Amino acid sequence: MAEKWSPDSWRSKPIQQVPDYPDAKELEKVEATLSKFPPLVFAGEARDLTKRLGRVAAGDGFLLQGGDCAESFSEHHADHIRDFFRAMLQMAVVLTYAGSVPVVKVGRIAGQFAKPRSAPTETVDGVELPSYRGDIVNDIEFKAEGRVPDPERQLMGYRQSAATLNLLRAFAQGGFANLDHVHQWMLSFVENNPAAERFNEIASRITEALDFMRACGISGENTRQLNATSFFTSHEALLLGYEQALTRIDSTSGDYYATSGHMIWIGDRTRQLDHAHVEYVRGIKNPIGLKCGPSISEDDLIRLIDIINPEDEAGRLTLICRFGSEAVKEHLPRLQRKVKAEGRSVVWSCDPMHGNTVKAASGYKTRPFDKVLAEVENFFDICQAERVYPGGVHVEMTGENVTECIGGSRTVNEADLSDRYHTHCDPRLNADQALELAFLIAERMKRDRQGLRVKEAKSA
Ligand code: TRP
Ligand code: MN
Repeated sequence: MAEKWSPDSWRSKPIQQVPDYPDAKELEKVEATLSKFPPLVFAGEARDLTKRLGRVAAGDGFLLQGGDCAESFSEHHADHIRDFFRAMLQMAVVLTYAGSVPVVKVGRIAGQFAKPRSAPTETVDGVELPSYRGDIVNDIEFKAEGRVPDPERQLMGYRQSAATLNLLRAFAQGGFANLDHVHQWMLSFVENNPAAERFNEIASRITEALDFMRACGISGENTRQLNATSFFTSHEALLLGYEQALTRIDSTSGDYYATSGHMIWIGDRTRQLDHAHVEYVRGIKNPIGLKCGPSISEDDLIRLIDIINPEDEAGRLTLICRFGSEAVKEHLPRLQRKVKAEGRSVVWSCDPMHGNTVKAASGYKTRPFDKVLAEVENFFDICQAERVYPGGVHVEMTGENVTECIGGSRTVNEADLSDRYHTHCDPRLNADQALELAFLIAERMKRDRQGLRVKEAKSA
């Protein structure tokens, strides 16, 4: 029998990636303050997301999860949020059409502030300082004072999350997400893209579908489903004191929920079976993501599933796979076979970003867009071969025209990286690259669906 869980039971477990706060009293005070603040999300919304992800796990839906690697305090502008949201919606339309299934839209946003690091300190020109752990912990600038972890930053993180979420809710429900608008934006992307012919077919089919509906009297003006969308938030639950302070009992169900975001995930560096992060997530009812990298064994994965989703609830657990464009061929099949053999229900999602990071000669961390695409293609191939449903993608992206990943049809070269390299952490797809990725996944989905129909017809 599992030991009793409580919102603070993680505190008695070994833990990785903890900031070294110099003033424990100050930290306690901030956590006490946060624990009295209103929840950012409502438990019913998290339950709704679990249900939707449950349908994804069953093959009726597709998870689109994306956003900044790390949100920052300095980049907290309405335009940044709007551009990101617009890029996500455009991707979602393409995927909804091509997959003919609902697309579950989840942002890495409104709480994605804490970052795991490979080393606790960083040395530049002989000066050693604590590593940057995300804006919710310390300052990115390489200066002694700012690098000291400051608890007050958690209050800033909370407030920024609340403001971001407020705007996202308004965009999703207030008319900005109107399908006709989103489609118009997409058409102008296609027009201006060097690879336009590739995307034209799907784009003009969507135009036809919308025209047909309008002719039948169905439009955004009279049909809520066309005028609004659902949008969910997610982040890595790394800073457990912050998460605990926002963990609340839902009065309708009596269950505990993380109210810092709708979905939270555990990183590849903090998924040790008997450690604090796994302990924390097992007791909350939100949908949970688990990042799976090359080092995860089949047995550990099953043990993690046993701990996180003992009742095998569909939609509770999403496996976010981040292996690398080639390594995925070695690791994904062994994990999918094991999960299938054990009869567990999960959402299989592909993170084609984190296993494909390289250092350019100039020193910039980048990701070749070709490698990103190759991992997605391989992911779909493997799912097909293993007869497992490819449930989603997880990408680091922005709605802005940054130059952080190289490649794409409007090519970013290595020499361009320094032009608009703005990320606080890992390199993100820019708006064009993100939409291009969506089109390529769409083509793939359409092909797979056609293949399925041919198979069904043959066996009928
Ligand atoms: N409400 C539907 C959905 O969210 C259709 C829709 C409306 C939509 N606006 C959208 C889909 C924008 C994608 C993007 O799926
Ligand atoms: Mn990242």
